[in-house]
Amino acid sequence: MRLPEYPQSYWLATSKPPTFEPLPKDIETDFAVVGGGIAGLTTAYLLAKEGRRVALLTANKLFSGTTGYTTAKITAQHDLIYDEYIQHFGEEKARLYYEANRDGGAFIANVVRENAIDCDYAEEDAYVYAAEEANLAKLSKEHAAYARLGIPGEYVDGIPLPVPAKGAVVMKGQARFHPLPYLSFLAAEIVRLGGRIYEDTTANKFAEEDGRARISTHRGHSVVCDAVAACSHFPFFDNGFYFARLHAESSYVLAVKSDYDYPGGMYIGADEPKRSIRSVSYGGERLLLVGGESHKTGQGENTIKHYEALEAFAADALGAREIRYRWSTHDFATLDNLPYIGQATPGSERLFVATGFRKWGMTTGTVAGHLLRDLMLGRDTRYAELYGPARFEADPGVKTFVQQNADVAYHLVKGKLEWLGKQPEDLGPDEGAAVRILGHRAGAYRDPEGQLHLVDTTCTHMGCEVSWNEGDRTWDCPCHASRFDYRGEVVKGPAKKALKRIES
Ligand SMILES: Cc1cc2nc3c(=O)[nH]c(=O)nc-3n(C[C@H](O)[C@H](O)[C@H](O)COP(=O)(O)OP(=O)(O)OC[C@H]3O[C@@H](n4cnc5c(N)ncnc54)[C@H](O)[C@@H]3O)c2cc1C
Ligand code: FES
Repeated sequence: MRLPEYPQSYWLATSKPPTFEPLPKDIETDFAVVGGGIAGLTTAYLLAKEGRRVALLTANKLFSGTTGYTTAKITAQHDLIYDEYIQHFGEEKARLYYEANRDGGAFIANVVRENAIDCDYAEEDAYVYAAEEANLAKLSKEHAAYARLGIPGEYVDGIPLPVPAKGAVVMKGQARFHPLPYLSFLAAEIVRLGGRIYEDTTANKFAEEDGRARISTHRGHSVVCDAVAACSHFPFFDNGFYFARLHAESSYVLAVKSDYDYPGGMYIGADEPKRSIRSVSYGGERLLLVGGESHKTGQGENTIKHYEALEAFAADALGAREIRYRWSTHDFATLDNLPYIGQATPGSERLFVATGFRKWGMTTGTVAGHLLRDLMLGRDTRYAELYGPARFEADPGVKTFVQQNADVAYHLVKGKLEWLGKQPEDLGPDEGAAVRILGHRAGAYRDPEGQLHLVDTTCTHMGCEVSWNEGDRTWDCPCHASRFDYRGEVVKGPAKKALKRIES
């Protein structure tokens, strides 16, 4: 097997999302939603269904964020989480979390069914499995947590796949789909209901003036409205200290052709290295999605090695014989592992946020849409307290806060002091590295034609030093996960400005 030379998402390669023009002028509306992923689309759709005027703005194209690179399991089984939530938040909140995500999954199922959306939707059981003793003990605790919370689930002694597993917790009747046809349907509905979608429109600033909210965009236009939902993955606004309360983890995915007679189901390992497995069959061909190799964004070793490790696993365990697509992306987690969905800062009733989905954004992004709709319309909702970003849980919040921010501080300083042995002349075709030029750090990539592209490696978000991601040919920031292409253009925020180019 050979890895495809350039990374490409299966979802984006096999569907044609709708396209929209950028915001052309200043506008006034009822509500603005920032973000063209599952959280933004669901929020805008639900507000439009209430008869409100909605404008959705997104940097780049719809679905070009993490939603376009997901594995799209629709499940309330979010790894091993319920025992942890009972310990940290108590039984009632852990149960609420389950119910919210169960209902999020049911909402997707209804929309798909009622509108006959052709999106490879299929019910599947979800398994979290383990072979190591310590993790088997965690599975038993998780199963006990299911029983306490009334979550339908079973403990089984193995899984129907040829991978090492001595036990698993199963949540029956979950689902998987191709998220893009589903979200394209929501986008079409937003427009049909009178809403507007603007692509290539980056929200730069949020302000409150004369009792209304105002977003300023990178082209100098503004959107004035009653309230704003920031569904931009990493919040686009500066207030609320979100940069210190979120951390990003990257993972890798292969879509492989295999001779193995796949028995169905969606799987996630509890042992390290963690593996995620599901199948897709959009357009008639069955492929397996094999994911894993998580690490903090911008802090991996040689990123191509992560793809190679997945390739070896897919070949040995699942008989993979051809890799059709490969891609990687990241998602954010909060200090206490519960997403932040709600009023963004205690000071503003016109700014709402949804972030920190911890790699479970299909149901959580759907929950976010419902919760933000209710809050923006001033309705009561039983989930507001659970997800409220203003919460403060001393355990594990403080410990994680200290760890994450010490890590950011470490990377801020490390990047500046790092000794760089390489110079641009050392780079071969299609090779990139941080190099030394006249004593200064710079990012260099020599393209396959031999042309050298140089950038300043100082991240335009908060000044950490980006490092080269060989697998995806991007410059990745270890502090808050901004990613830039080899020319320095922003691929993913929070950075809004390109890296400075250096003339070679
Ligand atoms: C490898 C991997 C596998 C996963 N698998 C699953 C899974 O099986 N099941 C599951 O439930 N979840 C999964 N997830 C998680 C899920 O994919 C994400 O939680 C979800 O897609 C996040 O959606 P979002 O709408 O919050 O963000 P995004 O999809 O990233 O959307 C954010 C949008 O905001 C826009 N934006 C950013 N900044 C600005 C700005 N300043 N102005 C305007 N627009 C802006 C971006 O362009 C983008 O369109 C996975 C995650 C990873 C990393
Ligand atoms: S410094 Fe925050 S993303 Fe780079």
